[in-house]
Amino acid sequence: MGAVRLHAFGEPEVLRYEEVARPEPGPGEVLVRVHAAGVNPPDWYARRGFEKFPPELRPDWRPPLIIGSDISGVVAGTGEGVDDWRAGDEVFALVNFPGRSSGYAEYAVARATDLARKPPGITHLEAAAAPMVTLTAHQFIDKNLKYGGGGTAVIVGAAGGIGHIALQLVRAAGAEEVVAVASGRHEEFVRSLGADRFVDYTRTSVAEAVHDATLLLDTVGGPDAHRLLPALRRGGDLVPVFLGDYRPDRARELGVNVHTDLWQVRSSGSDLTHVAGLLADGRLRVAIDSVFPLREAAAAHRRAEEGHLQGKIVLQVV
Ligand SMILES: NC(=O)c1ccc[n+]([C@@H]2O[C@H](COP(=O)([O-])OP(=O)(O)OC[C@H]3O[C@@H](n4cnc5c(N)ncnc54)[C@H](OP(=O)(O)O)[C@@H]3O)[C@@H](O)[C@H]2O)c1
Repeated sequence: MGAVRLHAFGEPEVLRYEEVARPEPGPGEVLVRVHAAGVNPPDWYARRGFEKFPPELRPDWRPPLIIGSDISGVVAGTGEGVDDWRAGDEVFALVNFPGRSSGYAEYAVARATDLARKPPGITHLEAAAAPMVTLTAHQFIDKNLKYGGGGTAVIVGAAGGIGHIALQLVRAAGAEEVVAVASGRHEEFVRSLGADRFVDYTRTSVAEAVHDATLLLDTVGGPDAHRLLPALRRGGDLVPVFLGDYRPDRARELGVNVHTDLWQVRSSGSDLTHVAGLLADGRLRVAIDSVFPLREAAAAHRRAEEGHLQGKIVLQVV
């Protein structure tokens, strides 16, 4: 089969399209003919050998490697003990996350329990764009935080993969006001997804624009992440999605709950089935920034490195 493999960690050019052996599904696993594969930040962290991660968080992955965890496609075969899936079923999945997966390929193996049925009304490109970002937003906001709406909800990085989904989920959960934080070019996009207020962070600081949020989801993190604390009211929840310095002392002083354990998204066919219901009836929409053929995965990673994504990058396989 054709696949994109890296033989050394490094710049996007290490991603090479080549012929490799087709994988076989083991017990409890399903072979999927991949029609499209989503591109996510963990893919380029892996491509670079997780160089910026603290050593204790760095997985010991060694080339040659096929990377990629978001797939949409059609079941091509099943391993022993798999009764729920049959050849021909249209499925999508976040494959084995956190852990190794090989989605940038014509065929990929996934645990049967990671799969969900692809909603018939959306394309494989849209379905492949969905798993990691929809599961992250759903697991963090609905399941972990049990967000019940009310008050002002702020989404930092609102045009990006996770941000544009989180924005729609807090809207649906009953936020009184949704504030989208992104660079200026994304204003129309985030308003079309339900944002009431737009903050261009390149012109105005979030803490200047908002003072009384009950929820703030930060998809950006970084050393100055604590700048966001004053945007929350006492008792408000700050949910970080990436590593950042949220100054626990300052947060305590302000009475802000920072969920500093940094929740981790996990593969889950049942959570993805819930998401599939939202995608099927249009309550949730996944936006696509750009599409590249599988062979041009290096170009897709170069686009990712330019930043300022509006939705998701997807690799078209079929
Ligand atoms: N904890 C977990 O389980 C988990 C799961 C999945 C992903 N993640 C992490 O979550 C992060 C976000 O992932 P993603 O897929 O959403 O990334 P993404 O698609 O690249 O989105 C990031 C967005 O942030 C915006 N942005 C950049 N700097 C900003 C700033 N200072 N203020 C506000 N917005 C800013 C960017 O566009 P503009 O600058 O043009 O607005 C972009 O739209 C990544 O670091 C990823 O590794 C964590």
